[in-house]
Amino acid sequence: MTKGDGRLWGARFGTGPEASAWALGVSTHFDVRLWREDLAGSRAHAAELARIGVLDAAGHAAIDAALVRCGELFAAGGFPLEPTDEDLHGAIERWLVEELGDLGGRLRAGRSRNDQIVSDLRLWSMEAADRVVAAIVGLQEALLDQAEAHLDWLAPGYTHLQRAQPVVLAQPLLAFVWMLQRDAERVRDARGRTDRSVLGSGAVAGQTLGLDPERYADALGFAGTIENSIDATASRDFVLELAAALAILATTLSRLGEELVLWSTSEFGFVRMGDGFTTGSSMMPQKRNPDVAELARGKSGRVIGSLTALLALVKGLPLAYDRDLQEDKEPLFDAVDTVLLVLPALAGAIGSAVFDRERLAAAASDDFALATDVAEALVLLGVPFRDAHERVGRLVAAAEEQGTALAGLADDVVAHAHPDLPARWAALLDPQAAVARRDGRGGTAVEAVRSQLSRAREAVATLT
Ligand code: ARG
Repeated sequence: MTKGDGRLWGARFGTGPEASAWALGVSTHFDVRLWREDLAGSRAHAAELARIGVLDAAGHAAIDAALVRCGELFAAGGFPLEPTDEDLHGAIERWLVEELGDLGGRLRAGRSRNDQIVSDLRLWSMEAADRVVAAIVGLQEALLDQAEAHLDWLAPGYTHLQRAQPVVLAQPLLAFVWMLQRDAERVRDARGRTDRSVLGSGAVAGQTLGLDPERYADALGFAGTIENSIDATASRDFVLELAAALAILATTLSRLGEELVLWSTSEFGFVRMGDGFTTGSSMMPQKRNPDVAELARGKSGRVIGSLTALLALVKGLPLAYDRDLQEDKEPLFDAVDTVLLVLPALAGAIGSAVFDRERLAAAASDDFALATDVAEALVLLGVPFRDAHERVGRLVAAAEEQGTALAGLADDVVAHAHPDLPARWAALLDPQAAVARRDGRGGTAVEAVRSQLSRAREAVATLT
């Protein structure tokens, strides 16, 4: 490459950069998506330069109008990027100089790409956090609606993927609503700590021109300013924190995906997702595949990978800005893009789900699942739990030996465990009654779930 071709630096160098070095350093193809934030920062900066007298009123007006035009070009997809544009900041300055001549070269005073890129990325991250939270709410609403529609449907509750105790279908659906609630709150918390302006920090040590950090914060809508110019330019914990929140979110989405995969197999047969959210096989005409759910599970890997890449990137970097930090953007962008792809698709898949009441009830009605209820009934009759556990264990063994359900045991066998038990036996082994007994907060009784549902709706409403 030659010197003097519109790049931001080069005066002290004998030759232009080697092609391989340039190719390594170019970031324009990915940082171009920060154009809105970059132009907003530049407009705030032009206003500051005018306030301190580095730009006169006419110069400021011309630069500001050019920055607005530049935004229109980007919005229309018509901004002319050149191979000599090392990054977005350089591309915009080159374009300004082409438009305005020497005036365009005045904008750089008092600002470095080191503070500029952090300002851009903080603004972008905050907006991304808002979009992610809105998409989480979309999925929560789909789950809430399904929970409300299936408030009293019996479903099996599992531990170790073995049938454990009966629940109502709303309970696992609401479990995901609460997980997603915390996921959204983590994203929002990360956003709160990102909400600090850094312009005025310069390359590392601030600037000598009298630029006012508070005014940048006001102009760009930040809640406040960062206190230290080195912290401002060197820190990326706001990126790590958002990526960490997204990685945790991705694990929730992956687990929800896994439930859908499992529940839609012929072996479980609990749910069928709509045609628009399942796919066929190119070879096997009968297939209905849960690809959306599988991709929710599969895509979590890359979000976790983004967090890992970012942690490895930042670890061990000396203060303050290092060029390594240019590598912060692609993993963050990818993590945000990925969860924003998965969330609406999963919301649609959940919304389209049709549950099979009979199969769910049948799976919930295995009366061995009520052995714990029997043991707790014995506790209420005064038996120590350790002893009750053993007595019921013997009843389970007897039933297994006879090849019957617990309900099939003769009264005299049941009475071995406790003389009062035969009279209560049928009610104890009714799954509907078992679910209704759990009427405390967080339990599965319909009224408890109904009030949980209304608290869940209130919690979700705080996110919007
Ligand atoms: N493109 C760089 C980044 O994303 C910003 C430029 C800072 N470069 C520099 N040589 N100081 O981090």
